[in-house]
Amino acid sequence: MPTVRSLLAQRRRHWLVTGSAGFIGSHVLEALLRAGQQVTSVDNFSTGQRSNLQSVREAVGEPAWALHRFVQGDLADPELCQELCVGVDVVVHQAALEAGPLSISDPLAVHRANATGFVNLLTAACACDVRRFVYAASSTAYGDAASVPATEDRAGRLQTPAAVSKYVNELYADVFARCYGIETVGLRYFEVFGPRQGDQADGSCARLIPRWTRDMWQGRRCVIEGDGESSRDFCYVGNVVQGTLLAALADNPGALNQVYNMAAGERATLNQLHALIAQALGREHAGLRIPTPLYQEAEPVQLRHALADVGKARRLLGYQPAYTLSQGLAESVSWYVGRVPQVA
Ligand SMILES: NC(=O)c1ccc[n+]([C@@H]2O[C@H](COP(=O)([O-])OP(=O)(O)OC[C@H]3O[C@@H](n4cnc5c(N)ncnc54)[C@H](O)[C@@H]3O)[C@@H](O)[C@H]2O)c1
Repeated sequence: MPTVRSLLAQRRRHWLVTGSAGFIGSHVLEALLRAGQQVTSVDNFSTGQRSNLQSVREAVGEPAWALHRFVQGDLADPELCQELCVGVDVVVHQAALEAGPLSISDPLAVHRANATGFVNLLTAACACDVRRFVYAASSTAYGDAASVPATEDRAGRLQTPAAVSKYVNELYADVFARCYGIETVGLRYFEVFGPRQGDQADGSCARLIPRWTRDMWQGRRCVIEGDGESSRDFCYVGNVVQGTLLAALADNPGALNQVYNMAAGERATLNQLHALIAQALGREHAGLRIPTPLYQEAEPVQLRHALADVGKARRLLGYQPAYTLSQGLAESVSWYVGRVPQVA
């Protein structure tokens, strides 16, 4: 199977990356610029950070950064979407408001970003003859389905308006592929973590990773709700970037107009996660004293275990997650603690 690097080296394409000031979008942008690709990117800074763009710039250097045009704007504006898609070969659509709790308090804002923004961009991509449209879907599409591991053909009852707005993306992408001939690939990301990740509470377990790392660093006890034995499929962002770019570059027609799980394909309990973060931090800072976690009573979680079957992505896209949870944490903990003082 060819690697992302060898596929990108074949020719320079013009990419549109949305949500580039966000966590995953900034990593996709960085990988493309490192590979000498031409990129237009867009963000409205609703949750994204200018500092993420600045750190991509520092990581890739000025010659690669010169291949990038950044546009500040909102995908809810159809004219902007049209302008962004002119001359683009591949769209990698990451922009969304993911927060489940926000969608309960403000479903219209989430619908506007995730559903209206999506259909605006997809319509513009078709009008501009963009060949491939790869988009971030979500494991929230599984809702309360308790099958472990989850395969793409399973469905559950959706739990939040945000989950509905992301699932609608899959329906639109499928219909647009059939009606207008655009190639679409949806990627159901599971619990992604890594540098540049925000830690606002959004109902995901991945957001615990930066929070717990900083708590440990500052000598605080991490709060584990429940018994810590619920489990999730935590995936380092480097794996997700690899899978996303493989989806963008796949030339096997059978791989297109599909939805894939994008995850590590391994699960860890919250107790194991706590221990692994402590190990990663301890390796970097010998002598750091990390207190035991504090267990708090909690409502029973809707979903006790979540695990992705990544077999379809392996078979059809050549996806090979390169980072285990421990390796991903080793790449991440110094970034998480880099911005907070250590408490004596
Ligand atoms: N991080 C995860 O674990 C995870 C899990 C499942 C799905 N996803 C999906 O992956 C994608 C990226 O997630 P992330 O964790 O990087 O989130 P993020 O919040 O860090 O990035 C999203 C970016 O989109 C921008 N944005 C939002 N609405 C916009 C709009 N209307 N116009 C322009 N820009 C807009 C935000 O400012 C932000 O920079 C999202 O689509 C999300 O739903 C992420």
